[in-house]
Amino acid sequence: MTTTPPSPRDLLHRRDLLKLGAAGLGLGAASALTPGLLQAGEGGEPQARPIPGAAPETLPAAPPLGTVRVGFVGVGLQGGSHVENFLKLEGVDVVALCDINPARNTEVAGWVKAAGRPEPKLYGRTPTDFVRMCETEDMDLVFTATPWEWHVPVCLAAMENGSHAATEVPAACTLEDCWKLVEVAEARGKHCVMMENCNYDRPEMLVFHMARLGLFGEILHAECGYNHDLRAIKFEDQDEGLWRRWHATQRDANFYPTHGLGPVANVMDINRGDQFAYLVSMSSPSRGLQEWREVHVPAGDPKWQERYVLGDVNTSLIRTERGRTIYVTHDTNLPRPYSRIHMVQGTRGLFQGYPNRVYVEGRSPAHRWEEMSAYLEEFDHPLWKDLERISRGAGHGGMDFLEDYRLVKCLREGLPTDMNVYDAAAISAVGPLSEWSVANGSRPAAFPDFTRGRWKTWPRLDVVRA
Ligand SMILES: NC(=O)c1ccc[n+]([C@@H]2O[C@H](COP(=O)([O-])OP(=O)(O)OC[C@H]3O[C@@H](n4cnc5c(N)ncnc54)[C@H](O)[C@@H]3O)[C@@H](O)[C@H]2O)c1
Repeated sequence: MTTTPPSPRDLLHRRDLLKLGAAGLGLGAASALTPGLLQAGEGGEPQARPIPGAAPETLPAAPPLGTVRVGFVGVGLQGGSHVENFLKLEGVDVVALCDINPARNTEVAGWVKAAGRPEPKLYGRTPTDFVRMCETEDMDLVFTATPWEWHVPVCLAAMENGSHAATEVPAACTLEDCWKLVEVAEARGKHCVMMENCNYDRPEMLVFHMARLGLFGEILHAECGYNHDLRAIKFEDQDEGLWRRWHATQRDANFYPTHGLGPVANVMDINRGDQFAYLVSMSSPSRGLQEWREVHVPAGDPKWQERYVLGDVNTSLIRTERGRTIYVTHDTNLPRPYSRIHMVQGTRGLFQGYPNRVYVEGRSPAHRWEEMSAYLEEFDHPLWKDLERISRGAGHGGMDFLEDYRLVKCLREGLPTDMNVYDAAAISAVGPLSEWSVANGSRPAAFPDFTRGRWKTWPRLDVVRA
């Protein structure tokens, strides 16, 4: 099986460098909290005031689909788990699978047949065989769960050939590629959804629900991250070990920000009333992979030729257009228990993850945490109540099922998807922007406005039911 990524990418295109070079100059505008932008809304939550004269816009949607005909590209650990979820959903036909590992392709095709569905057509003769699949098959949706460097080529091939696209995280690794996704989705009128499953985890949805009800007051600050000891996985001779470690040889950045930042972006109405304005970033020295290799990799193994440049702990700070602040870490090379931090703080209280706890002024004992369980019965997100039973046993504690359920429902009913191409671009942009900031003395790097101003009038996400 060949999973060697293509040659290193031009991570910062000249156009991006010009934009980033202007970041410092743009700071005055970015850092000034627009006077009068906030006004009290129901439940004490601030609302974005519509810009005078601007027509309120609806979020992008597409005509409803009776049945979603889907093709999967990359059916490894995560892609296979999505296939399993799709086989449980109504109104879905899995028409094609494309994986360069023929044994895995056949195995997953067997699951489709075992579910009593027609046999999917198989692709994957070469690493770009997904193009032939997109040109040949009649599909509504192409879903990629490949290594990161393939996400954008697959999404573009899908949309150029008339399908919606869904991609595992992050959607893109460069600003240039973020723009390509936005531009092609707009030109073709297609969805390009970044599948951030942590948006659907129970604590994250509880916090979203509580924030919408105003329990935390006006949300001002959040802390999140991807803090996961991946050393053993990165050095395996299978699955993610075949491609993930390579990124640590190429970039020193916060390049997997989506699990922590996705849920925070939802709570803060990013692209729906607020927007990421700029970030600053710094990385610690790089030691973890080198020390793991010393102990676990025999002399003479080709892995000894690799040079790791990824700082073990990257810390980035984002400021939003409305002046809110977000702390985002990436920490995958050191011994540690798992955490996405998941802290959301407002004028009346806060939630703090790992372990999950809550403080709400006037409700919690003064200055003391309460356990999340004290709030779950009253404030559990309705979607979790609706889908708890059917999602049991699905990937990552069931949240992956909720994520796939929502995607299919939105496509079948012609609704805007929960995450759209602008969210995919803005959240993925943390990777290249943090890389630039780290390499430039932690200078501020401005986020492009992928929405071209529409974030000011797009409506907030609803608290949805099944
Ligand atoms: N959301 C989550 O919780 C979560 C968890 C794990 C992985 N992921 C993401 O899912 C994606 C895949 O990760 P994984 O753990 O499944 O990795 P994996 O290595 O298990 O699977 C990747 C699959 O892609 C196939 N592949 C590689 N290049 C291909 C190409 N050009 N065309 C077709 N198939 C190709 C491989 O053969 C493999 O089967 C990554 O983007 C990763 O970040 C997300």
